Amino acid sequence: MAGITVTPISGALGAEIGNADLSKLDDALFEDIYAAFLAHQVIFFRDQTLTPEQQIAFAKRLGPIHYHPYMKGMDEHPEILEILKEPGDSYTFGAAWHSDQMFNPEPAKATMLYAKETPNVGGDTMFSSMYKAHDGLSEAMRAMLKTVKTYNVGDRFKQMGGGSRADRYKGSANMADKVRDPGNVPTEAHHPLFRTHPETKRKALYIGSHTQFLDGMRQEESDPIVDYLRRHSIRPEYLCRFRWAPGSLALWDNRCVQHYAVPDYNERRRMHRITIAGDTPF
Ligand code: SIN
Repeated sequence: MAGITVTPISGALGAEIGNADLSKLDDALFEDIYAAFLAHQVIFFRDQTLTPEQQIAFAKRLGPIHYHPYMKGMDEHPEILEILKEPGDSYTFGAAWHSDQMFNPEPAKATMLYAKETPNVGGDTMFSSMYKAHDGLSEAMRAMLKTVKTYNVGDRFKQMGGGSRADRYKGSANMADKVRDPGNVPTEAHHPLFRTHPETKRKALYIGSHTQFLDGMRQEESDPIVDYLRRHSIRPEYLCRFRWAPGSLALWDNRCVQHYAVPDYNERRRMHRITIAGDTPF
């Protein structure tokens, strides 16, 4: 089989990968895919037919599976979190700009989302390049914030009104059913505001809906800076947007990408999500 094709979908980040059958993954194909993942930050595949076992096997090539501390996986396949929205649901999982598991001292490295059922229109996912967001700050701003750390939590996000996850998920019976107590898993963490990607060595702005404030600053100092950085991080020129169809699969790098599930539809949408464990940001 000839090699994969890699077609960027925006000037900022994101590429569609062609000529790749993920049900027949071997070492050579995985190497090409991984190189595209590092180069483009989020990659997309179309028309895949994967069993849960095949999706899990692909995910395990990227690293150990991460288990969501607040959400139960599928009974038969605890590695997979089924994200299901039904017509009439008012809650959309992931409808805030974020980087997965930022509240953990070792946040998720990558996330894989595989579409099983999709709306006829709407329900896209948007992605933002945190490399571009970092590089797009002025030198003076970067110098001022160079050593600053953020404080991040897994529940009661200030940006989203401070309600608990259980409260928010009430708008979707399927997601509310999956909520669990995180037990001893850490749900707060301090991270560098500018993190270094451990593989590409590039600097990324590291901020998202879990971020509460900048360490060491007064709340009235921190709030306007965090607000500014949130707005800055999703400038249109840093974004791409993916239109799903059944069989599409997205794989994104949480170390340099934020994402947002667009809540603009009222049809059934069912996705299989696997998250890969990461290490301590520096
Ligand atoms: C998520 O935030 O992981 C969900 C993204 C989506 O459903 O589009």
